[in-house]
Amino acid sequence: MFDVATIRRDFPILQRRINGKPLIWLDSAATAQKPRAVIERLVRYYEQENSNIHRGTHTLAEVACDAYDDARDSVAAFLNAASQDEIVFVRGTTEGINLLAAIFSESLLRPGDEIVLTEAEHHANIVPWQFAAKKSGAVIRVAPVDDNGDLILDAYQRLLGPRTRVVSITHISNALGTVMPIQEMTRMAKQVGATVVIDGAQGAPHRRVDVQAIGCDFYVFSGHKLFGPCGIGAVYGRHELWQQMPPWQGGGSMVQQVTFEGSTFAIPPKRFEAGTPAVASAAGLGAAIDYLNSIGFEAIERYETDLLAYALEEIRKVNRLRIIGMPRERGGVISFVLDGIPDMQVAKLLDAQGIAVRAGTHCAQPILARFGLQSSVRPSFAFYNTREEVDVLVEMLRRISAQR
Ligand code: ALA
Repeated sequence: MFDVATIRRDFPILQRRINGKPLIWLDSAATAQKPRAVIERLVRYYEQENSNIHRGTHTLAEVACDAYDDARDSVAAFLNAASQDEIVFVRGTTEGINLLAAIFSESLLRPGDEIVLTEAEHHANIVPWQFAAKKSGAVIRVAPVDDNGDLILDAYQRLLGPRTRVVSITHISNALGTVMPIQEMTRMAKQVGATVVIDGAQGAPHRRVDVQAIGCDFYVFSGHKLFGPCGIGAVYGRHELWQQMPPWQGGGSMVQQVTFEGSTFAIPPKRFEAGTPAVASAAGLGAAIDYLNSIGFEAIERYETDLLAYALEEIRKVNRLRIIGMPRERGGVISFVLDGIPDMQVAKLLDAQGIAVRAGTHCAQPILARFGLQSSVRPSFAFYNTREEVDVLVEMLRRISAQR
C-alpha cells in the first residue's frame, strides 16, 4: 500500500521549515530530495568502506569495488539492460550526452549527416550536438511540437531519412512535462538506421524504463533527480555499440597498456570511465534504486499521475494564470506564467511561504521561445508531494494573482 505520510518520513529534509513555514518542495525536476536510506548509505560508505577501487590490493579496495559493481548491477536491472557491462557511470545526464556527442563527432558523424532533435530539448541535449555538428560537418534538424507541447509525429517522420545518423530525444520535457512517444519515435528512427539516444533526466524518475522494450541504443539519466546523490549518473548503451566506440577521456583505469608511443584501451564499460569514479555516489544511487523498488514503481506512477492531474486542475483555476503546454501525457512538471507578474517575483513570493519552485528558462530556451516566452514558473512534483501541498500552492498563487 502506498502511504504518502509514511514515505514523507523517509525524507528528513521534508521535516524542516523554510522562512518559518513547512517546506513544500516543488522543485524535484531540478533535483529530488534524498531518502534516509541514501544518506545513510553515503555515511556507511565513508565510515566503513572508503577506498579507491584497485581490486585485489587490499580489503577495503575489494569492499569499495564491490560497492561500485553492485551499483552498476542495480542500474542495469533498473533499466532492464541486458548486462551490467552496458552501464557506463558518468557525472550526470549532461556529461553522458557530452560523452556520446564527443565520441560520435569522431567516429560516427560525417559531413552532411543529420542529427535529429526535438524542439522540447534541454540545453544539455542541444549544445553537445552543436559541438559535434561543428566538428564533424553534420547538421541539426529539429522536430516541432504543436501548441499543446506534443510532438508532431508526422513532421518528425518527415525529417527522418538516409542522412539521419543520430536521433537524440527527451523522454519527458523538463519545461512542459510532455511525455514523448519514445518507443514509437525509436521505431521510426530505427527504420532509417539511426542511432537513438534518449535523454532520460526527467523520464527515469517518473516512468518505468525498459531500454529493451524502448529499443533505443542509449539511455542517459542523472542520479540526483532519481533521489540519489549529485555527481553520479549513467549511460546505458547496447553492448555491441560500446565495444565499437573509442574512448573519450584518457587517464587511469581506461587503459590496458600504456607506452609513450601509444596506448591500448580497456573493454567497456571501463574504457569510458577514466580516473577515480564517484564510488560513494554510485553506492548512494544503488540505495536510491533499492528504495524505489521497495515502494514499487507502478505504485509511484499511479500516485504521481493522480497528484499531477489534481494539481493541473487546481492550478489552472487561478485567475490570470496561463499554463504552458497541455500535452496528452504529462510527467512531473507544470509550467505557467502569471499575467503581469515576473516569474522570479512569483517564485520569491512562494519561497517566503516555504514553497520551492523553479522560475527561469529551465535550461530550455528554445521550447519557451516556441511559446513566446523567455521564462516560466515551474512547480515539479514527486511521489512525496501531497494534495495538501498543492492546495497551499494554489492558495498562494490566488493571493499573488489578486495582489497584482
Ligand atoms: N535540468 C534541471 C531542471 O530542469 C536542472 O530544472
